[in-house]
Amino acid sequence: MALLCFHAHCCNSILLCLGSGFPYVACSFLGGNETDRLALLAFKAEITADPLGALNTWNESIHFCQWLGVTCGRRHQRVTAIYLDHQKLSGPISLHIGNLSFLRELSLHNNSLSHQIPPEVGRLQRLQVLFLGNNSFSGEIPPNISACTNLVNLEIFGNRFEGKIPVELGSLFKLEVLDVAKNELTGGIPSALGNLSSLIGLNVFDNRIGGSIPIALGRLTNLEHLQLAVNRLVGTIPFSIFNLSSLSLFIVLENQIRGSLPSGLGNTLPNLHFFEVGGNFLSGPIPVSISNATKLFHIGLLFNRFSGKVPPLEKLHDLQRLILAQNHLGIGEADDLSFLTSLTNTSNMIHLNLADNDFGGMLPDTISNLSINLHYLNLQRNKIVGSIPTGIGNLVNLQALRLLGNHFTSTIPADLGKLDKLQILSLSSKLHGSIPSSLGKCKMLAELRLDRNNLTGNLRNVEELDVSENMLVGNVPSDLGSCVKLRLLYMEGNKLWGILPSSLSKLRGVVPKKGIFGNATAVFVLGNKKLCGGLALVVLCFLYLCWPKKITKVSSFRFLENSFMKLSYQSLHKATDSFSPANLIGVGSFGSVYKGVIDQGKKVVAVKVLNLHFRGAAKSFIAECKALKMIKHRNLVKILTACSSIDFHGNDFKALVYEFMVNGSLKEWLHQNGNEYDGHKELRNLSLLQRLNIAIDVASALDYLHHHCLKPIVHCDLKPSNVLLDDEMVGHVGDFGLARFLPEELWQSSSIGIRGSVGYAAPEYGMGNEVSTFGDVYSYGILILEIFTRKRPTDNAFNDSATLHNFAKMALPEQGASIADPTLFQQSENGEASSGINKTTNQNSIEGQRIEECLISILKVGITCSEELLRDRPAMNEVVAQLHVIKNTLLGGITAL
Ligand SMILES: *[C@@H]1O[C@H](CO)[C@@H](O)[C@H](O)[C@H]1NC(C)=O
Ligand SMILES: *[C@@H]1O[C@H](CO)[C@@H](O)[C@H](O)[C@H]1NC(C)=O
Ligand SMILES: *[C@@H]1O[C@H](CO)[C@@H](O)[C@H](O)[C@H]1NC(C)=O
Ligand SMILES: *[C@@H]1O[C@H](CO)[C@@H](O)[C@H](O)[C@H]1NC(C)=O
Ligand SMILES: *[C@@H]1O[C@H](CO)[C@@H](O)[C@H](O)[C@H]1NC(C)=O
Ligand SMILES: *[C@@H]1O[C@H](CO)[C@@H](O)[C@H](O)[C@H]1NC(C)=O
Ligand SMILES: *[C@@H]1O[C@H](CO)[C@@H](O)[C@H](O)[C@H]1NC(C)=O
Ligand SMILES: *[C@@H]1O[C@H](CO)[C@@H](O)[C@H](O)[C@H]1NC(C)=O
Ligand SMILES: *[C@@H]1O[C@H](CO)[C@@H](O)[C@H](O)[C@H]1NC(C)=O
Repeated sequence: MALLCFHAHCCNSILLCLGSGFPYVACSFLGGNETDRLALLAFKAEITADPLGALNTWNESIHFCQWLGVTCGRRHQRVTAIYLDHQKLSGPISLHIGNLSFLRELSLHNNSLSHQIPPEVGRLQRLQVLFLGNNSFSGEIPPNISACTNLVNLEIFGNRFEGKIPVELGSLFKLEVLDVAKNELTGGIPSALGNLSSLIGLNVFDNRIGGSIPIALGRLTNLEHLQLAVNRLVGTIPFSIFNLSSLSLFIVLENQIRGSLPSGLGNTLPNLHFFEVGGNFLSGPIPVSISNATKLFHIGLLFNRFSGKVPPLEKLHDLQRLILAQNHLGIGEADDLSFLTSLTNTSNMIHLNLADNDFGGMLPDTISNLSINLHYLNLQRNKIVGSIPTGIGNLVNLQALRLLGNHFTSTIPADLGKLDKLQILSLSSKLHGSIPSSLGKCKMLAELRLDRNNLTGNLRNVEELDVSENMLVGNVPSDLGSCVKLRLLYMEGNKLWGILPSSLSKLRGVVPKKGIFGNATAVFVLGNKKLCGGLALVVLCFLYLCWPKKITKVSSFRFLENSFMKLSYQSLHKATDSFSPANLIGVGSFGSVYKGVIDQGKKVVAVKVLNLHFRGAAKSFIAECKALKMIKHRNLVKILTACSSIDFHGNDFKALVYEFMVNGSLKEWLHQNGNEYDGHKELRNLSLLQRLNIAIDVASALDYLHHHCLKPIVHCDLKPSNVLLDDEMVGHVGDFGLARFLPEELWQSSSIGIRGSVGYAAPEYGMGNEVSTFGDVYSYGILILEIFTRKRPTDNAFNDSATLHNFAKMALPEQGASIADPTLFQQSENGEASSGINKTTNQNSIEGQRIEECLISILKVGITCSEELLRDRPAMNEVVAQLHVIKNTLLGGITAL
């Protein structure tokens, strides 16, 4: 299809004409603004590298509103948004950007853009979103960004900004998110930020910001996320911060903060969800009131100077991670660990680390009643006495159990053999007796440290065995020979003799070089005098590993670096009125959708609760959601946030939160009458123009997903219920990208119905073909036919051979638009046809013929898209171009009259 174009500078508009290969030759004036076009060209001119060809479409042959990444207002054809994320663009941002006076969103996240942000950005009075994260911008943050008084999101993390956070930013009263994480900012946090009365999130993570936390931040009554980690903050946490009752995430990890926590903390911060103050100089007791902050999910106090007894935590039902290691907690008394009993109702607990404290007394038997979900339990280097409770074997999901460096004096409970997911077990202590053979059942065990005990016995299925400094006597257990997975063996300091099992020779030379073993000090230790090398040629070289005494590098907490805010299960539970059926607005292949209200009733959202019951789905979920959130297009339903949590029954809970579309789905508009009021059914009718606009909206969204994202994104389930309409009846495609949450295996089996819905799924999917963008084109074709005929592909009239596609194909061209939805031709009372075209003429007029021809062209597009053979279907960018021409013909003709 050849596009033949002229450009008319003088009249501020572009004449778009279409040549052969298409039924129409249409010409039309599109609105536009020369200033915007020049500014965009100036932007392009400054880009020094565009390896992905993102700006290839930015040329004279098409109107700038159709350039990749450019969004215009429908009425004025002024540039309202630029989205060019992930395009590997290099070079500076042109100062002419300041001429795009209608710009509301500038999103250039994750490119290689450099130099300073031009101060002209301050001229963008309408700017709401400035998203420049993960680039190479340098210099100072221009203070006159503060002139963008409508700014809501200012996200410039991951650059090389230096200097101070401008005080002037304090005047951005609408600012909700300020994210300057991962830069080289110095100076302090300006007190003026306390004036940002709308601020919800402040992130200065990983800079070189010094000074103290301003008291003025205590005025940010809407603040939910305060992320100050990895800086050089000194002083104490101002009391005012502890009065921010909406605060849900508070992180000051790795600073130089002193002082203690206020006793009322749990009462004044009722919404606290994530509390991380590790790596500071905080001291004093853990406030007893902490148990009143019942939403707590993470408590991180690692590497501070907290002391005293740990208070009972029984109200923290949602707690998943309790990290108290490397403090001075416990007073060496018998009931030091009684708080563990209070955690037995905390059924979501996954990670419990009490290492390197002064906890004394015995390990309470109730430890066996801790959450079954517990993966990690570390009590090492405390002063715990007595025996290891046998019930510990109930914690069947434990992957790491570290008890070394205590004063346990018992046998190793055979129960430990029940922990068949255990990978790390360290028990070095004063244990005696035999090593229970049941330990051999711990099939995943990769590290076992039993040194400095008085143990005897044998083991299997162990990759690394440390029985050094024990009282192992007698023959080297021949069973060791069956430890086929054994990679490392420490047995120095025993009284072993005899002949080494021949299979041990497999150990020779196996010296791991990676990870924590990277700095192993190699020592040849065979401290068992009587142990003879029975195998003449075997020289056993064992390693004594310097166990890393260093604390886990606290910076590994950087997982919260992003501003992608997660909502908790509880908040969504509340937002949807406990997922009440009254709020259920749809059920789809991926899950159910509920209407919900968040932000204290201020924001209506759609909450999609996903049913992802497969392994692997969990791991990548948030990362994938972040990636999905970056996929922005005016015709895609916007993802606001995601939630990955555990519900009140302990089941995995995953949800995506979308902006709410007031006009519901296209399905309702095509096939359902509106609500019944007083017995009258409100007739929902879409005009021809509305339908065409929606068809273009959907096509544009697919074009974007297929051709303008980093990797093509196949929707896989396009159908009218997935097309949602906003208050202006603009179409937005929903459920995009969800296919990526499904593991590969599931794609192989078509039975699950995830390759689309009956009637809309491409025929090749039924034959087990791989999913492709052409599958979406097929579904789109069916969708078009449905929109304009108002017949469903699943209607009883259709079957295997008599499909909607064939029905339309046979009708054209002779029967013309007779198959089109008859309501499109009905005159309404005021003389206006529901085609939406303001005409007074009847069907026989030129005007009527034009509409009919238009309909035929549209149906043809639908037919071509839903061709049986993949290669006969067009790509979505061609479809978008064709539909625009049809629309221009329709409108052009009308205006010409
Ligand atoms: C285009 O935009 C500029 C800057 O906002 C404005 O001065 C000019 O009047 C606009 N021109 C048209 C034709 O709308
Ligand atoms: C942007 O506006 C300035 C001042 O109004 C003008 O001098 C400049 O030429 C404009 N830039 C472009 C690319 O049109
Ligand atoms: C201009 O953009 C059109 C539409 O994307 C593209 O087909 C064409 O190759 C581009 N022309 C040039 C000279 O880059
Ligand atoms: C950033 O962009 C690069 C290059 O386009 C891409 O490989 C990478 O996946 C992007 N990162 C994210 C987090 O999207
Ligand atoms: C940042 O950009 C680099 C290079 O384009 C990319 O590899 C990386 O994934 C990006 N990270 C994020 C968080 O966007
Ligand atoms: C916890 O909250 C309850 C109810 O509000 C209150 O009575 C109690 O004093 C609080 N506990 C502490 C230690 O502040
Ligand atoms: C091991 O047992 C021996 C003899 O029974 C005893 O002398 C020694 O103190 C014990 N070692 C430890 C670490 O308990
Ligand atoms: C091992 O540690 C020593 C001393 O701390 C250090 O000099 C050396 O670079 C380290 N080697 C590796 C491979 O990390
Ligand atoms: C239709 O045209 C008439 C006359 O030009 C005008 O008064 C009326 O507002 C128009 N209606 C619509 C819906 O545009």
